[in-house]
Amino acid sequence: MKPAGTTPAGVQSEEQAARWVREMFSGVAGRYDLLNHVLSFHIDKYWRWRTVSHLRHILQRPDAQVLDLCCGTGDLLLALEGAAGRRLYGSDFCHPMLTGANEKIAKKHMRSVVFEGDALRLPLRDASIDLLTVAFGVRNFANYRKGFVEMRRVLRPGGVAAILEFSQPSNAAFAALYRFYSNRVLPKIGAWLSGSRDAYTYLPESVRKFPNAEDLGAILHECGFRHVELHRMTFGTVALHLARV
Ligand SMILES: C[S@@+](CC[C@H](N)C(=O)[O-])C[C@H]1O[C@@H](n2cnc3c(N)ncnc32)[C@H](O)[C@@H]1O
Repeated sequence: MKPAGTTPAGVQSEEQAARWVREMFSGVAGRYDLLNHVLSFHIDKYWRWRTVSHLRHILQRPDAQVLDLCCGTGDLLLALEGAAGRRLYGSDFCHPMLTGANEKIAKKHMRSVVFEGDALRLPLRDASIDLLTVAFGVRNFANYRKGFVEMRRVLRPGGVAAILEFSQPSNAAFAALYRFYSNRVLPKIGAWLSGSRDAYTYLPESVRKFPNAEDLGAILHECGFRHVELHRMTFGTVALHLARV
């Protein structure tokens, strides 16, 4: 049976899991962007671009309230702002990642604003948001369902949660190659570039334990989303779920 949320080695409770995740991202925040681009062969930019393309019709509505959850150093947030042409909001519970986001916002003369907050307890009113995005964040939640129920709570009727996350490729030959890369190559390069062995051993482990794309769609339905659309990318290694309230 898949766990309720992320379970880094040695943690005993959801509280400990959340603390472990926050500390792990604090440790790699300074090198996070470099690692992201190198380990994904720069394909991460395409995944974000595809995500933005699916959301353009909402982003271009001047009244749409948009929040990028688990925004980290802000790459998706800034891509969303590029399409919306106005200030958007991002949140994350890891302060050093937000410092990176703020530096990038200032350097690129963007307008978006980020704030510190736990995605499992959003400081927002019920039915107050039109679009929630989260890229590579959900997999790290201490409890996936709690996160989805919280997203559902703050979304307005007709609102959309766009969840971009790693997944398992369906083609057996490609899956074997991908497993070799994730389990053998990625942790070594990750440890070397970040100085943290734990962080890049955790990454493939957290992907392995995460529900596959179909199961994730079913969980989103169970958490109150009415309609869920799935878009696979890069041989199914990444999936975008568009879940509507
Ligand atoms: C892999 S990074 C992704 C960052 C960014 N979205 C991107 O695509 O580069 C995951 C981020 O999720 C954040 N995160 C994980 N669990 C969280 C939670 N419960 N509440 C807020 N942020 C969380 C981490 O702090 C980290 O910055």
